[in-house]
Amino acid sequence: MSDTSQKKDSTDWDSHKLDPKYLPRIKSAKDLEEAMLLKDVKDHVGKEVNYNGWVYNLRSSGKIMFLQFRDGSGDIQAILEKSAVSEDIWEKAQELTIESSLQIKGKVKEDDRSPFGYEMELSDLTIVQIAPEYPISNKEHGPEFLMDNRHLWLRSSKQRAVLKIRDEIFFSMTSFLREDGFTRIDTPIFQPVSCEDTSELFEVDYFGEKTYLTQSGQLYCEAAEMALGKTYDFGPVFRAEKSKTRKHLIEFWMMDAELPFTDLDGLMDFEERMSKRIISDCLKNCAFELKVLERDVEKLQKYVEQDFIRMTHKETIELLNEKYDLGLSYLDDIGAPEEAKLAELFDMPIFIYDWPTEIKAFYMTRTGEQKDAKAVEGDMSRVRAVDLVAAEGFGEIMGGSERIFDYNEMLEIIKAHGYPFKDYEWYLDLRKYGSIPHSGFGIGLERFVRFVSGIHHIRETIPFPRMLNRMYP
Ligand code: 4AD
Ligand code: MG
Repeated sequence: MSDTSQKKDSTDWDSHKLDPKYLPRIKSAKDLEEAMLLKDVKDHVGKEVNYNGWVYNLRSSGKIMFLQFRDGSGDIQAILEKSAVSEDIWEKAQELTIESSLQIKGKVKEDDRSPFGYEMELSDLTIVQIAPEYPISNKEHGPEFLMDNRHLWLRSSKQRAVLKIRDEIFFSMTSFLREDGFTRIDTPIFQPVSCEDTSELFEVDYFGEKTYLTQSGQLYCEAAEMALGKTYDFGPVFRAEKSKTRKHLIEFWMMDAELPFTDLDGLMDFEERMSKRIISDCLKNCAFELKVLERDVEKLQKYVEQDFIRMTHKETIELLNEKYDLGLSYLDDIGAPEEAKLAELFDMPIFIYDWPTEIKAFYMTRTGEQKDAKAVEGDMSRVRAVDLVAAEGFGEIMGGSERIFDYNEMLEIIKAHGYPFKDYEWYLDLRKYGSIPHSGFGIGLERFVRFVSGIHHIRETIPFPRMLNRMYP
C-alpha cells in the first residue's frame, strides 16, 4: 500500500525532469487538422482522412513501417512506405516509439488480412509527443507490476476490451430499466444506517458524528419507490471486507432496483430478463471485444436462449452433499468452492432462493411456519431471498429479496438486531404510510463484467480497483 501521509517532501524534482525531446511538439489541439474517429472507419474507405491517437506497436524494415494505431474508439494498421513519401516525413516517422502520440493522415482501404479489417496508407504525420521507453511490453509481466502500472495497463487491448464491455453493460442495463418504466434516483454515499453486514462498514467521522460509507442504496431506493414506483440507483458502494479473492473488491459499482407489488417469482423473472438483455446486447455490440478476450460466445448465446435454473437453498445443499459428499449443513452459505461445484453440475446461471434467515440481511420476508425454529433437518426460519449464481464458476452476480412490509414485524427485527430506532425511523415510516409488498435486488457491475468477459480476476473489470492491499494508482 502506498504511503499517503503528509511527510516533508524529499523528492529530487530535477531528477524527474524529462529530456526536452520528450516534450510536446505542438502548442495546442489547434495545431492539428480536423480528425475523424476510427469507430466510423467504414465510412472513410477510399478517402484521405486524419486520425488522432497513439502508436500501439510498430515495426520497420528500413523501407516500410507498420504502425498499430489506436484512437480510443478503434484501431487501424497504418503503413508508411519510404518510396511513397518525402524524406522529411520518413525521418519524422523514424522518431516514433511505442505510445507516442500523433496525428496520422492517409487513405483508408479495406483489408481482410488486418485484424481490424482496414488499413491506412500513410501520407503524412504530425508528432504530438514522443514517448520514452514504455514500461509495458509484449513480454509477460507479473500482476503486481501491471497493477502498479494500472494507469498505463489500461491501454492494452484486453484491458480496453473489458472496459468497453463494462460500458456496454452499463448502457444496456440502464436502457433496459428506462424502457421498463424505471426511474433512476441517486442514493447517498454517507449513510447512518447499515443495509448489509455491519462488520463490513467503513466508518467515517462526519463532523464529530459517526457515519458510514454506503454498502448499498437499497433502503433509500425503497423510500423513492413509494414515490416513483419502479426505481433504481447506480453508484459506488463500499465493503470493508477482508476478502482477498478473485471476486471481491472493497469499492465496487452496484445497481439496486426496487419493484413494487412484486414477489420473489416476479423478481427472478425480472432478473432473468435483464440478464438476457445485457448478454445479448454484449454479443451484438461487443463482438470484437469478446474476440480479443477469446470469450466462448456460444456459451453466452446459450444463457440468452435457455431458461435459468431455479432451486431452493435446501435443494442446493442436498444436491451438493449427494454429488460431492461435502457434509454441508442447512445453515451453510454457498461460497466460491460450492459455486465451482455447481458449475460442474449445471451449465446455466442458477437462482438459489429461500435462504436461512441467519445468514441473510435483516429486511427480508420470513417464510415457513417455524419462523424462529432452530436448524433441524432444514426446516428452519428462512427468508425469501434469491442469489443469482452465474455459470462457469463466476459465482454470485445478483442478490435480492422480498422486503418485509409489515411495520410491527420490521420493528421487532430492527430491535432484535440492536439497531438504533432513531436511525431506522424513516425506514419504518415506509411501512406506516401506504406499505406495499415489494421486492428488489442489487447487481455488482464488476461481477457481471467478469462473467460476460470471462476475465479471471475482478481487479481487471474496474479501471482503478480498490482492494485489500491496493489503493494505488
Ligand atoms: O448481495 P449483496 O450484498 O446485496 C445487497 O447489498 C442488497 N442490498 C442489494 C439489493 O437488494 N438492492 O450485494 C449485491 C451484489 C452481489 O450479488 C454481488 O454481485 C455484488 O453486489 N457484490 C460485490 N462485488 C464485488 N465485490 C464485493 N465485495 C461484493 N459484494 C457484493
Ligand atoms: Mg449477496
